[in-house]
Amino acid sequence: MNLLLIDRESYTRDMIRFGLQAEMDMQIIDASSCQEGIEKLEQFKANKKALELLKKASADEAAILALDGKTHFDAVFCAYEADILNIINWLKEHDDKAELIVWNKARAENVMEQDTSGIHTYVVDEDVVESLKERLRTLMVDREITVARPQTGTLDDIYCPIRTPLLIRISPLTSDIYIRLSEKKYVKIFPEGETFDQDDLQKYYSKKGVEYLFLKKDETSEFLGKFQSDLDALIAKSDITIEEADVAVSEAYETVQELLQRASLTEELKEVARTAVMVTVKSMGFQPELKKILERLKDNKGHYISSHSMLTAHLACAISAGMSWQSSATYEKLTLAAFMHDITLTNDSLAAVQSLDELEERKLEFTDEEVKAFRNHPMDASNLVYQMKRIPADVDVIINQHHERTDGSGFPRGLMHMHIGYLSCIFIISHDLAHFMLSHKQHEGTLEEFVATHKKHYLRGNFQKVLDLIVSEYVRTS
Ligand SMILES: [Fe+2]
Ligand SMILES: [Fe+2]
Repeated sequence: MNLLLIDRESYTRDMIRFGLQAEMDMQIIDASSCQEGIEKLEQFKANKKALELLKKASADEAAILALDGKTHFDAVFCAYEADILNIINWLKEHDDKAELIVWNKARAENVMEQDTSGIHTYVVDEDVVESLKERLRTLMVDREITVARPQTGTLDDIYCPIRTPLLIRISPLTSDIYIRLSEKKYVKIFPEGETFDQDDLQKYYSKKGVEYLFLKKDETSEFLGKFQSDLDALIAKSDITIEEADVAVSEAYETVQELLQRASLTEELKEVARTAVMVTVKSMGFQPELKKILERLKDNKGHYISSHSMLTAHLACAISAGMSWQSSATYEKLTLAAFMHDITLTNDSLAAVQSLDELEERKLEFTDEEVKAFRNHPMDASNLVYQMKRIPADVDVIINQHHERTDGSGFPRGLMHMHIGYLSCIFIISHDLAHFMLSHKQHEGTLEEFVATHKKHYLRGNFQKVLDLIVSEYVRTS
């Protein structure tokens, strides 16, 4: 299903997109005005013509796939605007079959001098997302619309990468393992049931530098099952150390992250993520201490995305404990937010970018797609979390706000400090602190230096309270 979503407010568009995509598989193109909406309609119409020509000319498959699924809209949703008549007329003139759904019937009826007969349906004001969802569902059934997903048309859609060293853990192998030669060629190198041992690891990982091997996307269940049972075993133990939890959790984390890039958020993936959070919360104990966490950091190596996520989780819990918020529910929220906040990013140096200004300065280091993924990642990750039923409230909000700044210079929404929640403040400072500690070499970064360099950003509202706690912590321990 393709939907054109028109609304002046980007926040409203995001909210509607979020509500729809949490439950329905659809492609949403948005526009901030009726004029822009018409441009999008024109563009899709042009795509349709181009696609017909390409097909006639038996053009390259990739060129055809790039346009496929972008040739028509099944529905147009628009908040009532005075110039909606332009949309109505455009659809009539082009005999376009898109269903025009309009929000705010009362306003439409007040302006009866306009011919609104081209509006097919109205959705109610009170719960616009729910009533829009209901209308779209009916439309899908009536018109037998199938899900339109952009396809890349390569084998990369079928296979999932798995970090090569992880294969040792699931030996004997629970599914066939492949090596990727190109996007069009994967070759099976280990059949299911075979042992993957240290010699294999040496050969592929150490000597040939093959960092990832692959399995078929629909065969990931057994693989995840192995991580799930390892994590379950840790939960069942009466006492677990942070070190022991860290190994299991970071491996599970990286696997979830990889699989998410290629497959959707399946029940198994959600369960592994939830259990990893439980293991972490359990390993931290009731009163995690900031000082001990920073001491342990000395031997912290590994990938930036997983290591800064785990460190942020530990720091945020220690800070909330310092503020007398020792509750496992709070730890769970902060830890889950930490695990998921950058989960849609794959490039470690991209995840280390702190602001859109820094992104702009370093944009030559990244592809256009990566730049776009970074801009959208707070929204994308909070969308994903929103889909994980049984998760505590606030987690999606923390994730959405993790790049906001006290003075409104952050993103995606440029919120001022008074609109940033308390837990988000703890999270944002812990995230800054984790980044600061990981970007300094051993013994170079101290809490005192962190406060000295970052203080000016935290002198407002709830941020100030968190800062005071960090200051009292280094005064107490120095
Ligand atoms: Fe991050
Ligand atoms: Fe981030």
